[in-house]
Amino acid sequence: MQRTVYLNGEYLPESEAKVSIFDRGFLFADAIYEVTAVVDGKLLDLEGHIARLARSCKELAMKNPLTAEDLVTIQKKLITLNDLKEGGIYLQVTRGSSGDRDFPYPDNTEPTVVLFTQSRAVIDSPKAKKGIKIISTPDLRWRRRDVKTTSLLAACMAKQAAMSVGCDDAWLIEDGFVTEGGSSNAYIITQNNTIVTRPLSNDILHGITRASLLKVAEKHNLSIEERVFTIEEAYAAKEAFISSASTFIWPVISIDDRPIGDGVPGPVASQLREIYIEFAKALSV
Ligand code: PDD
Repeated sequence: MQRTVYLNGEYLPESEAKVSIFDRGFLFADAIYEVTAVVDGKLLDLEGHIARLARSCKELAMKNPLTAEDLVTIQKKLITLNDLKEGGIYLQVTRGSSGDRDFPYPDNTEPTVVLFTQSRAVIDSPKAKKGIKIISTPDLRWRRRDVKTTSLLAACMAKQAAMSVGCDDAWLIEDGFVTEGGSSNAYIITQNNTIVTRPLSNDILHGITRASLLKVAEKHNLSIEERVFTIEEAYAAKEAFISSASTFIWPVISIDDRPIGDGVPGPVASQLREIYIEFAKALSV
């Protein structure tokens, strides 16, 4: 069955939604995106995703064509039209097309806006139960990882390298320290039960799930340290896990073939997943 997608003000069957070959999203990855989780037909952490979209636009001097209300209306309508119960909504804004290929920002192009739904099990996900195996690999990305651009080839390369050795994902390493996952934030739990994750900067995406997760962890009096950590510290950790809107929390059970803890999902990551989902569902819209 065809999905109904959103393109520049219209709701269309996916096969009819077409974008120009001169679109700067296509030519230069001059585009930003958001992925928002949907559970029980409702959007999770929506406010955070809308705020980050506005910030990404601002950082790239790109017109933000949609108000927060427009975004809620469009996403809700797509959920209804596609009868989406669980999964996510992908949203992309590009700088549009000037009708040719030229590097500097053109004047007065209309942004291209695309949204579509993706149906998948996010609550009963097998990887949440079994955990994931990861590799470490050099972080080959640009210096503004805080901006959520569609320039994702380095992430695709890292994930492909993981798949090719039978693993699920990669953690990216720069100057000896873990930056983040291929499409997630990275955490370890030390032997004295402290949750450690890299502090916010231009080196990582400011995860919306991360922000909510740290809030609930604090509420539950869990100890948190926002600091850099090495892959060696991760090998020796009690537990490790990732967070994102498409995974929520997934435990990491091995890194570079070394089991983390007992090599099975740990209790703290599993508890965090439960309390995050409960918290986010209670505020979903
Ligand atoms: N990725 N870091 C990177 C590099 C990411 O691509 C993502 C999300 C995150 C987590 O951010 P959030 O919690 O806001 O989803 C961190 C999305 C899910 C994706 O590219 O599909």
